[in-house]
Amino acid sequence: LITRAFRSQFVIPDFQDFIKDIEEMYWAAKCNMDGKLASYIPQLARANQEHWGVSVCTIDGQRFSIGDVTVPFTLQSCSKPLTYAMALETLGPDVVHNYVGTEPSGRNFNELVLDHNMKPHNPMINAGAILVCSLLKTLDKPEMTLAEKFDYVMSFFSRMAGNEVLGFNNAVFLSEREAADRNYALGFYMREHKCYPEKTNLRECMDFYFQCCSMEANCEIMSVMAATLANGGICPITDEKVLRPDSVRNVLSLMHSCGMYDYSGQFAFKVGLPAKSGVSGAMLIVVPNVMGICTWSPPLDPLGNSCRGLQFCDDLIRRFNFHKY
Ligand code: DON
Repeated sequence: LITRAFRSQFVIPDFQDFIKDIEEMYWAAKCNMDGKLASYIPQLARANQEHWGVSVCTIDGQRFSIGDVTVPFTLQSCSKPLTYAMALETLGPDVVHNYVGTEPSGRNFNELVLDHNMKPHNPMINAGAILVCSLLKTLDKPEMTLAEKFDYVMSFFSRMAGNEVLGFNNAVFLSEREAADRNYALGFYMREHKCYPEKTNLRECMDFYFQCCSMEANCEIMSVMAATLANGGICPITDEKVLRPDSVRNVLSLMHSCGMYDYSGQFAFKVGLPAKSGVSGAMLIVVPNVMGICTWSPPLDPLGNSCRGLQFCDDLIRRFNFHKY
């Protein structure tokens, strides 16, 4: 890092100028009072509307954070690209995509719908993510108990985050499980259509899905995860090779086409970057070969994306040439 600094060989050489832009975009979005808190569980309904944080980590490890960047939030759907990445890494794309498709559903993230092969459309919606959890639980190290599997997944995520330790919010987990009629309906619907690998224990698989949604991190930690994806699977903080490049390519492709709920097409058109949002207000944004970004602010637009996060992305593309096309 230091040698590169002396030679000014960073991917963003004028990082100080870049930070000024990030700060301006941060303050502009802070004034945005649009959006509503998620209300399906009390823990999210009680969130602080004011919370707003942005963290950036470049592929050569330059970092900048502003706002509420150390306040923990639950990963929610931001766990979906991570469990998918882990499944690709441990089982390979052929096995994974034997069970789950790669097509945007064009429907809500929790709709009771399968594709024409009777598979979930993609791993970024609830049905697909539940299915990916069943693959991780049933096919990858099947001898592990649910408790061991939880630790195993946590440590994998932690390696993506430069060995930062993630937390777990038990109140959110319990509430998710209570408020999960639709997710159970999806779970049983997929069992009816024989979507799971043999020997899947559906109750364990659903619990595992709720646990992944209830893991906690903050903007700083998540920006490193996004940076690992931006850097072809090598964590820029530890230099550890966590994911194969082909796994990263698959994850980013589906984040690009399916990561922003039913706004994914418009987001791909306007912003042109792979991203994934979650109902806690978090957003993972990847600028391939440049940096990872995490934004977090709880108020959501009607489609479920963070209002301040979306404004930040629009601004980012207005100021910089990061759109893929
Ligand atoms: O499964 C649920 O309803 C939530 N725990 C996940 C919510 C979320 O962020 C929606 N994502 N696609």
